[in-house]
Amino acid sequence: MKQVKLSGIKACVFDAYGTLFDVSSAAREARDALGDRWQALADLWRTKQLQYSWLRGLSGRHADFWQVTGEALDFAMATQGIDDPALRQRLMDLYLGLGAYPEVAPVLRRLKSRGMKLAILSNGTPAMLAAAVANAGLSGLFDAVLSVEEVGVYKPHPSVYRLTLERLGITADQVCFLSSNGWDAYSAKAFGYRVLWCNRHGQVPERIPATPDGEITDLSGLPEMLPDEL
Ligand code: LAC
Repeated sequence: MKQVKLSGIKACVFDAYGTLFDVSSAAREARDALGDRWQALADLWRTKQLQYSWLRGLSGRHADFWQVTGEALDFAMATQGIDDPALRQRLMDLYLGLGAYPEVAPVLRRLKSRGMKLAILSNGTPAMLAAAVANAGLSGLFDAVLSVEEVGVYKPHPSVYRLTLERLGITADQVCFLSSNGWDAYSAKAFGYRVLWCNRHGQVPERIPATPDGEITDLSGLPEMLPDEL
């Protein structure tokens, strides 16, 4: 995918989990208890968490992301034959304090100093997002931290992507949306945002409608792809 310079961008809007925050870090922090199984548990936990969000959306049975995250963890632990309520509690507590990727804070500060509006748009609940932002030392950097709880349905429902426009008072083509989740990046592009897929794990292109405007491997390349002055 070719690199681009995006013009007319007024706001950078970030997906949270996987893009700003390392979702594997919770299980990695508990590897003293999980041993070699931590990565498999982290992967299955994440996969089921997303599946459950989509299933709840399709079936019209929304429950918030804290509940869905817990239910996905229950599935992942049961799959590995782990029956340990204290470990479950520990992993959920760790999920509230996921680490941010190392380039996140300096990139956000650089963009903010240029006058770029910054926002998070995430499946996470307001409480989960507030905890993650504070734990990662990112407090005060965002103009808006937006949760799907405001619309009661998960990504990629268009009403989620519309929320940013209403709250920031901008148009879709003024948004540069960043997600490491391919399905989220492609769906945001289909909605009408300009999109850079932060393809941290070298995944192959998705086979769903629309194609992001560009691809980066982490967020450190983002400032060069945006105007120097707004
Ligand atoms: C989020 C999930 C998709 O933060 O990573 O919305």
